[in-house]
Amino acid sequence: PRLKELSGPIAAWYRENRRDLPWRNTTDAYRIWVSEIMLQQTRVEAVKRYYERFLEALPTVRELAEVPEDRLMKLWEGLGYYNRVRNMQKAARQVMEEYGGEFPHTYDTIRSLAGIGNYTAGAVSSFAYGIPKPAVDGNVLRVLSRILASEEDIMKASVRSWMERAVEEVIPEQEASDFNQGLIELGALVCVPGGEPKCGICPAAELCLAREKGIQTALPVKTKA
Ligand code: ADE
Repeated sequence: PRLKELSGPIAAWYRENRRDLPWRNTTDAYRIWVSEIMLQQTRVEAVKRYYERFLEALPTVRELAEVPEDRLMKLWEGLGYYNRVRNMQKAARQVMEEYGGEFPHTYDTIRSLAGIGNYTAGAVSSFAYGIPKPAVDGNVLRVLSRILASEEDIMKASVRSWMERAVEEVIPEQEASDFNQGLIELGALVCVPGGEPKCGICPAAELCLAREKGIQTALPVKTKA
């Protein structure tokens, strides 16, 4: 119920406070997908330049599917974790072969592509198509742990899937994208890791259980790296 009460306010807060980032000016699933893969292990500021260059070179899924490996690796150079981009090309080839080159429009089909897990499938399907599926990454887990004062270990798969279900139950049907992006943006700008979160400017502060108990800096509980 706590989370449900917060979903509308979090979506509204996002609309007022969102940073204008290159991948937020599009509903093109391909472009959103590229941004989410880059953002998995690289910070926002660093991703910006790679993102623009990558999409200028490879503006559509077909071009990604067909680009020679050495050129692809050059575009990714510096981002690291090269498996990410190898999987992207594999997924692009799946889209060409199985979906006629058009990025699929349902959560389950997006989830079935190479390198796409629950988080990325939820992000792409909600941001591009407004599909009410959760997009819970490490930053969102921190936000949720605090709102709910959950002392469960967020590295555990069972805890993650519990959190995903909790989010799925409260996603506002008409503003799935703003709500999911609001959770991400809260984690980036307000409910930050390390030091004190900025509860003074948080739209969830009134209902945040960790804040009520004064344990916000102790959460989330996170074991193995
Ligand atoms: N980190 C992961 N996804 C993001 C997004 N869409 N915007 C900003 N930071 C992110």
